Amino acid sequence: MSKPVAHPLTPQQRAERTASPTFGTAFTEHMVSVKWTAEQGWHEAELQPYGPLLLDPATVGLHYGQVVFEGLKAFRSHTGDVAVFRPDAHARRMRASAHRLMMPELPEELFLAAVDALVAQDQDWIPDDPNTSLYLRPVTFASERTLALRPAREYRFLLLAFVTEGYFGRSQRPVRVWVTEEYTRAAAGGTGAAKCAGNYAGSLRAQEEAQDKGCDQVVWLDPTERRWVEEMGGMNLFFVYGAGAEARLVTPPLSGSLLPGVTRDALLRLAPALGIPATEAPVSLEDWRAGCASGEITEVFACGTAARISPVNEVCTSGDSWTVGTAGERPVGEVTARLSDALFGIQRGELPDRFSWMRPVAPAPRPAAPASGQAPASLTDQAARS
Ligand code: COI
Repeated sequence: MSKPVAHPLTPQQRAERTASPTFGTAFTEHMVSVKWTAEQGWHEAELQPYGPLLLDPATVGLHYGQVVFEGLKAFRSHTGDVAVFRPDAHARRMRASAHRLMMPELPEELFLAAVDALVAQDQDWIPDDPNTSLYLRPVTFASERTLALRPAREYRFLLLAFVTEGYFGRSQRPVRVWVTEEYTRAAAGGTGAAKCAGNYAGSLRAQEEAQDKGCDQVVWLDPTERRWVEEMGGMNLFFVYGAGAEARLVTPPLSGSLLPGVTRDALLRLAPALGIPATEAPVSLEDWRAGCASGEITEVFACGTAARISPVNEVCTSGDSWTVGTAGERPVGEVTARLSDALFGIQRGELPDRFSWMRPVAPAPRPAAPASGQAPASLTDQAARS
């Protein structure tokens, strides 16, 4: 079913709400909700007004953290069309995360139908400004009322959307990172490869430590030797070795404790198409330090849906600090800028979508959406089918 808001905001009200939006605050007017029970499977798929939930205090997801989520984006192209970047890859990762946490896996078709329905409904929220996009936040949580420690028997999937510029704001601001030796993000056999809420809660103390040291973000080392670089905050890291025609990319391998980033995967495919070889190989903290000292490492950047591509220009540890490659001369390195332009060119429809990553979304309904009616057939149908 579809229950759009009876009185949508005016274009001017939308513009006011989305002017300089802080990450995760400028929510649109709608959301999608789908329920799951052991008896009925996924059911009651509904596009509805964005609003608070009524939860029992014993909702199991609040206590034991059976919560998985995703983050993906819809972009407006220069011609005004709207398309979503790699929703199929996010649907698959959400299933993998759910599998790890003993949660029901939302079928890919239903995930895509939810994305289509919400973005079609709220696409007018995406400003024409090419620096903004619509961030989509799918989340599934255990909604059963029980404090028994076992996989829950009821779940709720929600899809929210908010307008964003970027995690670090409008510009591609270079970040200064703190390498924590005290805290680790994940261990082999744990939940590091799943996008689950607990991983992010567990990162906050180290992020606080980074900020106390005057840094923007924390860098995680492997939990066993505290030697191998894993990730930065909630983002993957890439190292650029060499420059010009000799430049090549290296990113730490998916050891089981890293999150398999969708942007990371995109760059591993996009870079070779631009003539930049890209490999997955371990990088130690000592490699990073020595590579910057010798000039072998010329650029480092972090990537993720929220952060896009963010240059890392300075590294601080408990014993020393250093600048990355050419960071002193220019804030965004040449290879970082090339990759960033190529990726955003595809996302904004300015460059050919050679990997078929963009999923076009139906044009906005004109005039304004009806006060009630049927959801785009696919959302209702897909819930009934799953
Ligand atoms: C994203 O990059 O979309 C993420 O999920 C990170 C977020 C928690 C800020």
